[in-house]
Amino acid sequence: MYKYLVRPLLFRFPADYAHEATVKFASSVSRSKWLLKTSNSIYNYSDNCLKQSIFGLNFPNPVGLAAGFDKNGTSCPLMEKIGFGFIEVGSITANASIGNPKPRSFRLPQDLSLINRLGLNNDGVQTISRRLRKLDLNIPLGINIAKTHDPAIMGEAAVQDYKTSFDMVKDFADYITLNISCPNTEEGKTFEEPETLQSLLKALKIHKDASLPPVLVKFSVDLDDSQLSELITICEDNAIDGYVATNTSSRRDGLATPQKVIQNIGRGGLSGSAIKNRSTEIISNIHAQTKGEKIIIGVGGISSGRDAIEKLKAGADLIQIYTGMIYEGPGIVKKINQEIAEYLKTNGYEHIYHIRKIRDQ
Ligand SMILES: Cc1cc2nc3c(=O)[nH]c(=O)nc-3n(C[C@H](O)[C@H](O)[C@H](O)COP(=O)(O)O)c2cc1C
Repeated sequence: MYKYLVRPLLFRFPADYAHEATVKFASSVSRSKWLLKTSNSIYNYSDNCLKQSIFGLNFPNPVGLAAGFDKNGTSCPLMEKIGFGFIEVGSITANASIGNPKPRSFRLPQDLSLINRLGLNNDGVQTISRRLRKLDLNIPLGINIAKTHDPAIMGEAAVQDYKTSFDMVKDFADYITLNISCPNTEEGKTFEEPETLQSLLKALKIHKDASLPPVLVKFSVDLDDSQLSELITICEDNAIDGYVATNTSSRRDGLATPQKVIQNIGRGGLSGSAIKNRSTEIISNIHAQTKGEKIIIGVGGISSGRDAIEKLKAGADLIQIYTGMIYEGPGIVKKINQEIAEYLKTNGYEHIYHIRKIRDQ
């Protein structure tokens, strides 16, 4: 129904409007017990072979909602009922921000991809934390934090800005993701500069505080192998618990969408099928460098069970989706879970853990 009815309708509107309307709708449904129950009966899918305990948390299935869809944590109850095994809210920043002027998100249907330059629009850590503390979810809730979208906040102030959000969410998040690919200086430098990452991780004192929830670092898909390796070394020295790979790309090569259209869109992060292969390579690299000892959440261009299995085989323990859901609709969560379960059964594997065992042999 989504592909033939809802999507054609939504795609008649600019991407920004369609997204805002969808989030508003999802937030309203999240407040109705009856609609939540109905959504659950349509979309939920459960299979013991997909259940995992990771970080001591129970994940009913490996498919999570990627950061950026529910930036303000207003639609978590619906996301749980449409079958996600976990949710990552955010990116949340210390100060609220309205983000960049519109238009700021664009569809590339020929590439099953999107470009966005939302600019970290969110209600700010205080308001969102108050909202999230009231939730009663049965699935893990990750919180993705970033530096406030304000080029005037840089250097030590940027680290402190991050720390404000970190300190405010650390006692109720099931895990925290540090989104380090957002610009943090006027020249657009990010926390993916080795020295800046080192100072951020030091300030958060992750290795010294046993009471913290697991802390993960999210990398951009544009890092080359040596940059990635250097950043992983810094993360490992600072006792990071896992990785989210990957965020969007600023590159534009290999797209089927005409160059003129791409040029007219301008800057922004590319997501969806166009980044799928490099994102999988980055997962493999992290898996190899950390000798399979760290948890990896694989994200980037997943729109089928097959894409998800590729990420799991490369080294991911869990996966997330965003752009795939824009093109395929909410039924994609159940579809991916069913396809993973089918794959396991067809190949004689009893449990999703077997994929891990096979790839680590
Ligand atoms: C519109 C949009 C907004 C996003 N906002 C964020 C964000 O605030 N923080 C973040 O870490 N990632 C953000 N992302 C990146 C996604 O979480 C994900 O890493 C990326 O889109 C690749 O996955 P996909 O191909 O399934 O979309 C955003 C992606 C999109 C499309």
